[in-house]
Amino acid sequence: MAGYQLFDPIETPLEGANLIEASAGTGKTYTVTGLFLRLLLEKNLGVRQILVVTFTEAATEELKGKIRKKIREAIDAFSAGTSGDSFLYRLIQRQASADKALRLLQDALDDFDEASIFTIHGFCRRMLHENAFESGSLFDTELVTDPSAMIQESVDDFWRHHLYTGSPLFVNYALTNRFTPGELISLLKRKMNQPFLRIVPEKEGPETEPQEKRFREAFSRTLKAWSVSKDEVAVSSFPAKGSTGVNILFQSLESG
Ligand SMILES: Nc1ncnc2c1ncn2[C@@H]1O[C@H](COP(=O)(O)OP(=O)(O)O)[C@@H](O)[C@H]1O
Ligand SMILES: [Mg+2]
Repeated sequence: MAGYQLFDPIETPLEGANLIEASAGTGKTYTVTGLFLRLLLEKNLGVRQILVVTFTEAATEELKGKIRKKIREAIDAFSAGTSGDSFLYRLIQRQASADKALRLLQDALDDFDEASIFTIHGFCRRMLHENAFESGSLFDTELVTDPSAMIQESVDDFWRHHLYTGSPLFVNYALTNRFTPGELISLLKRKMNQPFLRIVPEKEGPETEPQEKRFREAFSRTLKAWSVSKDEVAVSSFPAKGSTGVNILFQSLESG
């Protein structure tokens, strides 16, 4: 394949940074498993010193299972001195001492419960706990992968606080303008996904009480005038006839 370099987990250097991008089923897990073995044997690293992170709990369990199995297979292979598995076969060829390799593999298996194989959030949680002072995080900091329930709770809280106690006029206005708990939830999610977004205005909104008072007074004056002169008002002469605002006004006047 032109432009592509063939990746070989047994030959690839263990130094520096390597980025591999590959689609599902192409051998990523297989490769990580092989590299783990090479780090044990060629770099004399313990299982705690090799950090493996992946996305989900399921992928983490799969990786742990596959790496542990591969270590067992490697022990069998080194004991037998050969293997039908081409990776393990070549791994044996690369090792000067089978005894040393067996010792390292057995240690890895014994310590495997302490292997640093985590989900990304599991790793973050562990780092925050282990470095609680440096990171300024609380000892009982909890990392939540799905914050939906928290978002819902905050929105419910906000709604109870500001809308249940709000004047009917304000609540009505908010709902007519699609200011609903659902809208607030999606707003909050957008803000969380893009923390750099600035919410304007930053402070509390203006006091609506005086405006509402003026509105109610004006409405009541209009209502009185309407009952007296409604037959004189030629609705068709309104330039904005048909617009929602005018319709709502007429409906409101009609129903008092
Ligand atoms: N180089 C390889 N030699 C032999 N089998 C391989 C090799 N690469 C992948 N496989 C096998 O192919 C299947 C898919 O590989 P896997 O590592 O699970 O893919 P990915 O993690 O990219 O989805 C597995 O059964 C794995 O053992
Ligand atoms: Mg995989």
